[in-house]
Order: sequence, then structure tokens, then C-alpha cells
Amino acid sequence: MHKRILSSSCLVGALLATACEVPSTPPPSPTVAETPAPKEVLDTAAGLTVTNCRMLTTARTSASGDDGAGSVAANTQDDNLATRWSGPGKGAWLTMDLGTSQSLAGAAIAWHQGNTRQNHFVLSTSEDGTTFTQAYAADSALTTEAQTYRFTARKARYLRVTVNGNTVNDWASIAESRICGDDATPSPTVPTTDSGAALPRLPYLQSVGPTSALVAFRTGVSCTPFVRFGEGADISRTATATVAGWRHAVKLDGLLPGKTYSYVVEACGSVTGVRQFQTATGPETTRVRFTAMGDFGTGGTAQSQVLKLLAQPSRAGEFLLALGDNAYESGTEADFQDHMFKPMAALLRATPIFPAPGNHEYVTNQGQPYLDNFYLPANNTEKSERYYSFDWGPVHFVSLDSNCVIGLATSDRCTLAAQKSWLSQDLAATKRPWKVVFFHHPTWSSGEHGSQLKMRREFAPLFEQYGVDLVLTGHDHNYERSKPMKGDAVAASGTRGIVYMVVGSGGASLRPFPGSQPSWTAFRDNTTAGYLDVTVDGGTLAAKLITPSGAVRDSLTLTKTLPAAVPQMTGVSAMSMETPPGPVDDPTRQPAYMRPRAPVPPADTLESVADAPEPSDTIVRDQK
Ligand SMILES: [Fe+2]
Repeated sequence: MHKRILSSSCLVGALLATACEVPSTPPPSPTVAETPAPKEVLDTAAGLTVTNCRMLTTARTSASGDDGAGSVAANTQDDNLATRWSGPGKGAWLTMDLGTSQSLAGAAIAWHQGNTRQNHFVLSTSEDGTTFTQAYAADSALTTEAQTYRFTARKARYLRVTVNGNTVNDWASIAESRICGDDATPSPTVPTTDSGAALPRLPYLQSVGPTSALVAFRTGVSCTPFVRFGEGADISRTATATVAGWRHAVKLDGLLPGKTYSYVVEACGSVTGVRQFQTATGPETTRVRFTAMGDFGTGGTAQSQVLKLLAQPSRAGEFLLALGDNAYESGTEADFQDHMFKPMAALLRATPIFPAPGNHEYVTNQGQPYLDNFYLPANNTEKSERYYSFDWGPVHFVSLDSNCVIGLATSDRCTLAAQKSWLSQDLAATKRPWKVVFFHHPTWSSGEHGSQLKMRREFAPLFEQYGVDLVLTGHDHNYERSKPMKGDAVAASGTRGIVYMVVGSGGASLRPFPGSQPSWTAFRDNTTAGYLDVTVDGGTLAAKLITPSGAVRDSLTLTKTLPAAVPQMTGVSAMSMETPPGPVDDPTRQPAYMRPRAPVPPADTLESVADAPEPSDTIVRDQK
């Protein structure tokens, strides 16, 4: 009741043109005034100079508090950089009131001692002085000069600057501030190249769906970055990270299926050149082109040859399925950085990657760095990122965690029963006409490891029951394509079978086949690295093994008669990417992975990509 009375009285106050602010939480009482600035900084008294801002006249100012020593809100409007407003505590705010509602498009702020500390701040606007809507969030650049922050034009009477501390202390200190009017300036200049300090991990696209996408990246200092984005060439929309830190995955929401979007990352003074990606297409789209490969995370020669080709826009397809062993030798943070994200940066900035975990990822803490580095749709009952499904155009995709099945994971991480139960429900629910399943350990292989019988026994019956069309795996460092299989044999003539592929040729040293080609093998090769290029178009699926020279080493065509009705975009897996938040950093403590270290040498030898022994009772070497 008390709050209601307070709000009402404030509303009356606002109507009487008396600025009235209701702080959501009372600011902490200052115990001491902020340390005075060095004399040479204070003495650089000068007027305000701004660029890219048509300054509007502020009628009055108010603030959450001040230092009690004369640093009041009105000092931000006196055109004197030597005076300031200083408010104590994180969340301290300064509100500028124009007196009337006008069209706003930004703010210009000269930060007190701005060359020595970065302020974490949010700009929000309001028509009534009570309800504010966020328009912008960022960290200030290191300069005492006024900085202009532009946002999409909107009508408002008030603009509030909320400061959530800075890199030195928890004070909010602003020398001068102005509201910028909408002068019909086009949306922010689109940067074509990266500028500022290089991001230690360049942007990569995660959990891209029909209406949302994550832009993940890592910064060299802790901050709250944001992403400018928009459809086509536009970048006028802004999405801000939800927490400060070094590891970020900023969600772009409200997207449209099958559209091209541009994005620019602005983080701690680093700005990337514009990049583009495409959202997932909906069920009305009958065509999709994607790529797949496994065992590529070496940081070595063959990987780089494959990537050189794959990163070409005409080759990349709409997304990449990564079939496991994505970061040799042990799936550590350093392995992911040096053997996957660095060499794949040019590809992953524009092409979403949907991975499955390999046994090498499980070497380190049962795949925890894999989970920390990928942001995956955990649309299963365990809410686990270890296995998931997604839709893209006419295809339903499922990524399984075969490590869970063959005994590499403890039951608190994942279980066979939960994964099987979820898979049954997932495959039964999808209405997409094509179904592709991928995981690491192959159910059919005449390579060094042989066929993973437990995966076959447990999952092939479900694949057959629910009409899976194609199964993609890795693990053996070669390429192999089975004939259509049913149960433990080649499907009888006239009956439906499933084609199983091993595409473990993405970069690891190729291995010899231990025996002659079995009768169930349609084609196998261990002479060249390569990736799989798959196009689904209506009732036809065409897959090709592409070598680093661009040659087609093998090809497969599947056909089916599609139902006449186009499925609707419904169901959990079709609509949402329920990606859990990634690791949350303590903003005061640099993560351990950032400690200086030597580069991880390429895993370019047979020894460096060798596998630990697997439970022998689940393997069958059916080479004949
Ligand atoms: Fe493997």
C-alpha cells in the first residue's frame, strides 16, 4: 500500500512538471566521498564538444543521490568538464528531463575521469518519468572526451543514465551529458573491419533457429558487451549480454525464418566488422544444404586444407554438423581454442555449428569444456546439452551422445535410458519429412575401431521404427558408406534400410583399414581428407564426399515420396532453442583459462589422435 501511495504522489508530481523519480532500490549511503581526481585532470576545464549528436536542451535533472560535497546533477548541464555529478553505489542514476516528449536517438556523455576507467552503464527512456525502457547498454570507452551513444529513435520526455559501477569503483561520475535528438541520421555506420583490441575468441554462431540465434565470443577483459543486428544489411537493433564477464553468448530474438541477418559485436572497446548469417528455415521450405564431418579438431595440416575449401561461401552450406573429436587431444579449453575455434573462425562467424561430443572431448572432466564452449539446445527431459534435436527446413536433426552409451559418462551426467526415452518421443513427434541422426561412435564401420554394437543394438531399432533416413558418425579416421541396413544385415531387396556413414576424415591422420572391404560396405576410402556436402531438395537427398581439392570422391542419392501436406511449425524442438546459459564468470576474477600459456601444438600425428581403449564387449570387427 505504501508503494502505491508513493507512486501516485510521484505521478502527480510529474504532472506538475516536477521531476519525480522512484529509485527501484535505495542507493547505499556513501561512507566517504569519492577520491578527488588528480589535479591535472580537474584543471582541464573546458566546454563540451560532441559529435554525431544534435543536442536537445535539458529542462531539469535529477539523480538517485550525490556525494554531499557539491557534485550535484545540475553540474552535468553547465558546459564545464571540470564539474561533475557523482552518485554513490552501483545502480546510481542521472535523469535528464526535456520538459516535453520529443523524438530521441541517443545521448552524449563526458565521463568524469573517463580516461582512467570504463563505466558500465544503461540508457533508458520514459514518457512519464516512472516507467523506463532500456534503449542501450555498454561500457564507456577510455577517454575524457564526450562519447555519443545512438539508439533507435523513439518518443520520450526523459532519458536516464544508470551506472552499474566502473572498473575502478562503484561511483557514477558524469561531467556533462546531453540527450541527442532524432535527426534522421541513418542507422549506425556499419564497420567493415574489426577494430580495437582483437577479441581472444571471435564470434561464432550457436543454436541458430528460425526465430533466434546466439552470437558467442570471448573478451580480453570483463564487460557487458552488446550485438548490433538487423535483417539484411541493417544493424539498427541491439541485444545486450545479460551478465558481465569474459565468456558471452548474446541472444538475438525476434528473427524471421530463412532470412539473412547482419551483426556487429561491440565489446570492451572492440568492434567487429559486420558479419552475416541465415536463420533456420521453416517447414514450408523444401530445400536445405548442410555439411558434416568428424575428427577434425587437430589444428593441423589436413584440417586446414579441408577448412580452406569449406570456409568459401559457396561451399559452406547453411550449417555444419560436427561429428565428434572436435578438439584434440583431450577436449580441454586450450584444445578447443587452438584446435577448433581459431582455425575455424572464418567459417563459424557465418555458419552455425551443431556438434556431437566425441571420446576425445570426454577425456577432460567428461566433456565439461565441450559444454562450456558450445551453447546447445537442451530440449530433452534431462535439460542436457549432451544430446538434442533441431529442425531446419524439411529435415529433423538429432545429435546423440554415444559416450553416454558406451560407458564413458557417469550416470549423473547422462544415461542410456533417458537418452533412448527422449529419442523415441522426439522422433515420434516430428513432422518433418526427412530425419538425420548424428553421433560419434559408428554403428557400422570396417575401420580401425569397428562397429559399435551397443549403439547399434540400442538405437538402430528406434531409427528403423521412426523412419530415420541417414545416420552420420565419425571416430574411425576414414570415410565409409554402408548399403541400406536393417538390423544386423543389409536390407533385403524391396525393404527399407538406413544408410550409415563414417565421415571421420575431417582432419585427423587417416588410418589403414585393418581388413578387406565387407559386403555391407557400399564405398570406403582412407586416402583423402574431406567433408560431406548434403543437399535435401523435395524428395531427394544427395550427399557427396568433397576432398580438399574440391573433387567429389563419393556420392549418394536417397529418394522418397513426400506427403502432400506441409507440416506446421509446432512442437518444442521445432520452435525453441532452450539453450542454457553458459559459464558465468566472476567479474572480479579472470577465468583460469586466460592465464598465459604456450600454443597447443597441432595434433598431426597418429599418436596425438590415438584413442583410449574402449569396452571390448561392445565392439565388433565385422570387416568381412
Ligand atoms: Fe573418436
